[in-house]
Order: sequence, then C-alpha cells, then structure tokens
Amino acid sequence: MPSWIRVPVIFFIIAGIVEYTIDSGDQPAFIKEPMVLLFLVLVLLIIIAIEAIVSSVDNILFQSLDEKAKAKLTSKQHEPSKILNWINTTYLKLLGSKPIEEEHDIILDHNYDGIKELDNNLPPWWIYGFYASIIFAVIYLARFHVFNGENQYEELESDLVQAKIDIEEYKKNAKDLVDFNTVELLTDAGDLKAGQQLFEVNCVACHKADGGGGIGPNLTDKNWILGGGIKNVFKTISEGGRDGKGMIAWKQSLKPNEMAQVASYLLQFQGTTPAEPKAAEGDIWVDENAPVEKVVTEAEDIKED
Ligand code: HEC
Repeated sequence: MPSWIRVPVIFFIIAGIVEYTIDSGDQPAFIKEPMVLLFLVLVLLIIIAIEAIVSSVDNILFQSLDEKAKAKLTSKQHEPSKILNWINTTYLKLLGSKPIEEEHDIILDHNYDGIKELDNNLPPWWIYGFYASIIFAVIYLARFHVFNGENQYEELESDLVQAKIDIEEYKKNAKDLVDFNTVELLTDAGDLKAGQQLFEVNCVACHKADGGGGIGPNLTDKNWILGGGIKNVFKTISEGGRDGKGMIAWKQSLKPNEMAQVASYLLQFQGTTPAEPKAAEGDIWVDENAPVEKVVTEAEDIKED
C-alpha cells in the first residue's frame, strides 16, 4: 500500500476511534473540544513524520545494496499485489464464463447465417442472488403472513409507546429541566417534604410558616397578585415579584426542581386558615385551563364570598 493511502487510512481510523469514545452530544468532538482537534493535528503530523523517516531509511538501505540485490528488490516490488490478484480471480469466478479457448465445448450446433450460440452457465453471482432471494421470500412469508409479524403501522405505534415511556423516564432523571411553561404540580410526599424544608429555610421570614403573610402576601387565600396555579407561582418564585417589593428572583439560588417543590408545597396552603392572616391582595385567580365543571363551582364560590 502506498503511503498516500496509508497515512489518511490510519489517520481516519484514529479520528473515528476518538470520535466514538468521546461523548460530545450532537456536535463532532473535534469541534466541541479544541483539545481534540489539537490532538488530531498532532497525530497527523506524527504519522507523516513516521512515514517520512521510514521511507528515507528504506532509501538509504536500498542505496547500500549492490546492483544484483537492487535489481532483485525492484522486480519483487513490481510483482502484482496479492490482494489485486485475489480480487481478479474472484471476479472471474463469479462471472463463471468460459475462456475463449474453451468455447468450442459449449457451442450449440445451430448456425444462423454465421451467428452461433454459446450454452453458457448462468453466472454464479446471479444464481446465488436468486437463491438468496428465495430464502428471503420464505422467511418474509412466514414472518408476516403466517405468524402475523408487526407491519409498519404497528411498528410505528409501538415505537411511539416506547418513546413516551422513554420521555417519562428522561423527565424523571432530568427534573431540573422544568421551567414555568412545563412545570406541573408535584404530589409526591418526598417532593412536598423537600418543598417544606426549602420554604422554612428561605421563605418564612416574609410569608410565615403557615403562609399567613408578613412582608410578603398571604399565600393561603384565593387572591394572587401575580397569578395562582403552579405555573404562575413557579414563575413568581423563579423570576421574582414586582420591582422594589422585596420578592427576589430565586432562580439565582434554587434549582428548577427545588422551585417546583417549594411551589407545590406552598400551594397546599390554599384554603387553610393561618394564625394571623394578612389581608387579601390582588385578584381572585381562576384557572382558565381547569375543566369546565370546576370553573363553574369556583364562580359560585366567588358569589358566596
Ligand atoms: C424578603 C421577603 C421575601 C422572601 C424571603 C420571600 N418572599 Fe415571596 N414575596 C415577597 C413579596 C414582598 C411579595 C409580593 C411581590 C409583589 O407584590 O410583586 C412576594 C410574593 C410571592 C409570591 C406571589 C404571591 C402572589 O400573591 O402573587 C409567591 C408565590 C412567593 N412570594 C413565594 C415565595 C417563596 C416560595 C419564597 C421562598 C423561596 C419567598 N416567596 C420568599 C417577599 C418575600
């Protein structure tokens, strides 16, 4: 193999292994990590250097030979390569045609104005392809028509079901991916307990342990300044209240999952009676996305109030 083939082949094998072993997301590793690019450039330079050294050593050794040995070596180098030989003979075997010298064996005995016909064998590549397609057909028939294997629609269905499961699994492991658009009310006891702890450490100073309110508004009533429901509450916690009111943006110090936990916890104050409730501030909040039935009962509640 000449060196202009050898160098790129070795280089791309190494680059492939590097790319395969380094987890670089959807970008190639050498773009994401400049060190990788540097490493690959070094590898390329080293391979070229090795090639250059080996060929010059070869050259020196060659010059040191006497004339007879030189001639022997050159004639050896000009022998056709084994690989090319093998490809050639396999190709001829697959064609299965007789050499012209043996054609008299297979010539048919008719003759139309000098046009004669050879009784060639079918070429082996064709025959084997034919057998393979027969075997394929039998397996295909058995699988899809006898044993009712999944067709493409069913495959799509089951892929979609699997994808849903995968997404759920992913969400479970990536809780911190939530923001105020995707957050949902957490009901898990562990999450609520964590939320309570976060509330007691960070929020009681202004909202009181029972949510009755102090510097911050009452969290137990239906009135919300910045909107109720998990999404609005999460947004308030994460982005903070109105300027100058004292409610900071907690996304600086709490993780998304922690904000979801504390938001879910404080929504449990709804409807409870705190020791010293602060007067209601803001508007009564009605969940527009709630099922129709619920909206009606809430509207009735408002009338009663
Ligand atoms: C320094 C006092 C202070 C602390 C600490 C504080 N808040 Fe507040 N909070 C406020 C004030 C003041 C408001 C009203 C903001 C406004 O009017 O824009 C508020 C508003 C809110 C609201 C919106 C209430 C509504 O009616 O819309 C929520 C929810 C809330 N806080 C949750 C929290 C949580 C959770 C914590 C702890 C992680 C916390 N707060 C910590 C002062 C505080």
